Parts: sequence; structure tokens; C-alpha cells
Amino acid sequence: MDITQLITDDHIEQRRLFALIDELAPTDTAALKSVWTRLRVLLDTHALAEERFFYPELLKVGQGADHEDPKEETRDAIKDHNEIRDTAAEVDRKELGSPEWFDAVGACNKANSDHMDEEERQGLTDFRRHADLELRHRLGVEFLQFESEHLTGDGVVPIDRDADAYVLENG
Ligand SMILES: [Fe+2]
Ligand SMILES: [Fe+2]
Repeated sequence: MDITQLITDDHIEQRRLFALIDELAPTDTAALKSVWTRLRVLLDTHALAEERFFYPELLKVGQGADHEDPKEETRDAIKDHNEIRDTAAEVDRKELGSPEWFDAVGACNKANSDHMDEEERQGLTDFRRHADLELRHRLGVEFLQFESEHLTGDGVVPIDRDADAYVLENG
């Protein structure tokens, strides 16, 4: 097992669910609600799982990738996670299936897409190059267990973090 693969697999699932929402009509409200709820639970749980199991270890063993050091990679990621949490919460403040609701989903999709692209180029690349397979396996098990516990329940409570404090506490 490899935590970087589990994270990448989640990213594929997130892209897939956003694309499936594009396939639904505004009148498919029950389907929109169910698919969006599933996606939101995944987004929030995935971000928290990364903050608990991936970024603290990246800060310890990372050496940088894509012209950013591990602290910059982590600080950017936490800020992005806050934006994803905020744009996802905004969706639930709109009327389901309305043009404003679809616009809000689009804004969340953009925040998440931009973040995943950067995370894949930076943090994940850095970790594949510099973390040994034993560590990647051990963290993969923890990541898998945490997600499995929360994805089958009510998810997690989304809480924004101070990116600079996070890097200080975990670095
Ligand atoms: Fe991610
Ligand atoms: Fe992330």
C-alpha cells in the first residue's frame, strides 16, 4: 500500500463525481443532492486525512519539488483545503438545482482541481522521491482506516486552519 496512491485514487474519484454532476439535469434534485453529499463528504474527509497523516510527514522527510520546499507546499495546501471547505459549504447555502447552485459547484470544482494539480506536482512528487516504501505503507494504512471510518458515517466536521500555525506545529 502507498499513501500517495490512495490520495491519487481519491483525486480520480473527486474528478469523476464532479463530472457526474455535470451529467444531471437541474430537475434531478434527489440525484443532485445525493451525489453532491457523497462528494462533499469525500472532499472534507480527504482533506482532513491528508492534514492528519500526509502533510506532517511531508514536513519531516520532504526535500521539495516543483521549485517549492515542503513548508511552502504544505502552507499552500492548507490554504487550498480551507478554500475547498469554504466553497463546498457555499454550495449548501444555495437552492438545490438552481443556476446559483451549479455556479457554486463550479467554484468548488475549480478550487479543488487547482489544488489537486498542485498537490500532485509538489507534495506527492516530493513524497514519492523522498519517503521510503515502509513509511508510505504505514501511512497508507492509517489514511485508509481514517477514511473508511468517516466515509461510512456522517463524514467529518469541516474546520478551516491557520496555514502558518499548522506548519509551525507540525514542522
Ligand atoms: Fe488531495
Ligand atoms: Fe489536499
